[in-house]
Amino acid sequence: MANNFYKDITTDQLCEIERKVGPFYYYNTSVLLETLQSIQQATAELPHFHVHYAVKANANPKLLNLICEASLGADCVSGGEVKAALDAGFSPGSIVFAGVGKSDREITFALENGIHCFNVESIPELEVINEHAERLNTTAHVAFRINPNVDAHTHEKITTGLNENKFGLAMEDMIPAMRLASELENIEVIGLHFHIGSQILDLEVYKALCHRINELQLLLEAEGFSAKSINVGGGLGIDYVHPNENPIPNFKKYFDIFKENLALRPGQQVHFELGRSIVAQCGALICSVLYMKQGHTKNFLIVDAGFTELIRPAMYGSVHYAENLSAEGSNSQRYDIVGPICESSDVFAKNYHLPVSQRGDIIAFRSAGAYGEVMSSTYNCRTLPQSFFDTDFK
Ligand code: LLP
Repeated sequence: MANNFYKDITTDQLCEIERKVGPFYYYNTSVLLETLQSIQQATAELPHFHVHYAVKANANPKLLNLICEASLGADCVSGGEVKAALDAGFSPGSIVFAGVGKSDREITFALENGIHCFNVESIPELEVINEHAERLNTTAHVAFRINPNVDAHTHEKITTGLNENKFGLAMEDMIPAMRLASELENIEVIGLHFHIGSQILDLEVYKALCHRINELQLLLEAEGFSAKSINVGGGLGIDYVHPNENPIPNFKKYFDIFKENLALRPGQQVHFELGRSIVAQCGALICSVLYMKQGHTKNFLIVDAGFTELIRPAMYGSVHYAENLSAEGSNSQRYDIVGPICESSDVFAKNYHLPVSQRGDIIAFRSAGAYGEVMSSTYNCRTLPQSFFDTDFK
């Protein structure tokens, strides 16, 4: 188990890079490879289970390459992601394309490249895909994204399976959509798609999803429709509190839930779209301490990274495990760890226990491989963070 995250690099090396390029992402590809292996083991006996990596979590080309080599497919939400996946070597037949607002250009690009399936989120979108497929003299394979109205028990900004969301079709609209699709010449409906939210730790939620899918399949069949494939989306959560003790999610338990609770018909294929659970633990944001500022009631640790490099704390209130890699003493202190961005939300953690820290110390925010680098921005005219890999130092 790769629980020594920094085994291939010394703090001096991290420090040297930081001095040169500022805050950066460090990826431990051994952690990623072990995670991918664990997925392969958990699905080895389940050839009808197909895992697509949700590119939105991290589109770094080196990571995409490794994920592609492990024979996963890709789940994309934009033409740019479809292109990134193709460039990294994913075969078009392994690519699914979701998103509530696919543009004409993106639809055309995906059709021209022969992707496996569009996850369709509205009737107008279905009609536009049909028009483009007709123009290109091809057939578009689609799955309808249905809101199963299952509460994911997660942060409100990353829950998507409830009825009032902008995503997908309500359950009662499924049959009319199927009817319409069957009349469209250049559309072939291959199945149903679901995604109920992200950072899901309560696996009972997935049981509820399976049961809802079973009900919907009965409804479909009563109307004479069937689904070749069921895409259950992604969302499996990770341990942000104990990245060292728990670097790899329990994939076996996760896949077993679908194996045991989905009432599959003969030949039916099951697709998964996992992002965070694949890449979160292999990445850390490395930055350094600029200043310690003594307030009246608290101590601020001002670091040179901000929400421009890692927006999750500011956007979702999430806390990434922070560590001071330079500190040697045994005394600790509580700090509000804050960045340099001119916004009061630029806070990584409040009242956080760290060794007594000094200017120049290296601070790492762990579990930042998912929705970290890929969500970074140049706000305040900052430069985008660079990325480095354990393999650069072996
Ligand atoms: N499939 C669909 C249709 C999705 O919308 C998402 C994520 C996934 C799959 C992958 O979900 P995952 O396995 O990574 O949970 N930026 C937020 C997370 C947003 C998730 C958006 N959709 C965060 O940093 O927590």
